[in-house]
Amino acid sequence: MPTLSTVVDGLKLPNPFIIGSGPPGTNLSVINRAFREGWGGVIAKTVSLDASKVVNVSPRYAKLHSNNGEIIGWENIELISDRPFKIWEDEFKRCKDAQPPGALIASIMEEFNKDAWIELVQRCEAAGVDAFELNFSCPHGLPERKMGAAMGQDPAILEEVCGWVKSATKLPVWAKMTPNITHIEDPGRAALRGGATGLAAINTIRSVMGVNLETLRPEPTVEGYTTPGGYSSKAVKPIALRMVMELATMIQKEFPDRSLSGLGGIETGEDAAQFILLGADTVQVCTGVMKFGYECVKPMQDQLLAFMEKHKFETIADFKGKSLPYFTTHADLVVKQTARKDAQKAAVAASASATKKMVANDAEWTGDDFVKQSNDLAR
Ligand SMILES: Cc1cc2nc3c(=O)[nH]c(=O)nc-3n(C[C@H](O)[C@H](O)[C@H](O)COP(=O)(O)O)c2cc1C
Repeated sequence: MPTLSTVVDGLKLPNPFIIGSGPPGTNLSVINRAFREGWGGVIAKTVSLDASKVVNVSPRYAKLHSNNGEIIGWENIELISDRPFKIWEDEFKRCKDAQPPGALIASIMEEFNKDAWIELVQRCEAAGVDAFELNFSCPHGLPERKMGAAMGQDPAILEEVCGWVKSATKLPVWAKMTPNITHIEDPGRAALRGGATGLAAINTIRSVMGVNLETLRPEPTVEGYTTPGGYSSKAVKPIALRMVMELATMIQKEFPDRSLSGLGGIETGEDAAQFILLGADTVQVCTGVMKFGYECVKPMQDQLLAFMEKHKFETIADFKGKSLPYFTTHADLVVKQTARKDAQKAAVAASASATKKMVANDAEWTGDDFVKQSNDLAR
């Protein structure tokens, strides 16, 4: 019988499905609900020391539907948590006091200020959280304060901030990467060099959902205006898989003891299996929970177990990264395909010449080749 239970960076998880930071982990009530439904862990909504600077607007979401009405893309211009940090400290403590069956991970973000990051880490740790995720990746609102993606796009800053955080805690620290960058390995490598225990990818992709053709205003429209937001849900999965593959390849080569948490468009156990096959230790779901509710973790677990049973994988580690060796360069694809076509041609030619050599009439039988000639005719 395969098992979904897994240990990542010392965290004992009943399964690899973790709530990704966002509305599904935005207060104690919903965090508790997630644990009750069987999630392996919860990454809470990103917190900072001074929530008074965080002012949300509405509407702040916009959806992209397929022709049959399914939601395939989701844009948000939501900021980090607007709830006071003191309340979060209390809720983290109450959550851990109740001994949830999975990991409680604090997602944290601050300005480029060492003392602020260290204070945030120490207070969350004192409240009992099991690990940290550093939000270096929110693409809207916070970059104006040089936070989020503005930090995540600068490897030198990333390395320094990871170093500050690691100097303040022995707990696992995952650096969450922005996809809004050309080569994700560069910030990923910097975060690991700075001491991060692992990486998480991806956060949302900077986007404009569309323009209303009646009003000519871009959406989501707030008082007639908008700002580019973050794109998530099913439509981003191919981009997330590519970036997870690139980070996993870099981790395998340069930091083989570090972990990777994959996210972006995961809605099924089969989606999760693909992220793990490309090197993820755990998988996170955010928009999927907003579309289908907390209970979606149950079918996801069943689907992942069915995949493992089919391939006779006993543990997550048995298939983590198993599809990575099948990536190569385009030039190598050409070499491989030419070699296969040449081999095929040679086989056809050999069989044609064998057919040609077969005895066509009784005058062709020879004493020396008699047995071979007999065999050839038997084919
Ligand atoms: C409404 C919304 C709010 C989000 N807020 C946060 C946040 O506070 N911190 C963070 O690290 N990521 C945040 N995210 C990003 C998600 O955690 C995730 O990285 C991204 O949406 C891709 O995964 P998904 O397709 O499963 O949602 C948010 C996403 C959405 C849709």
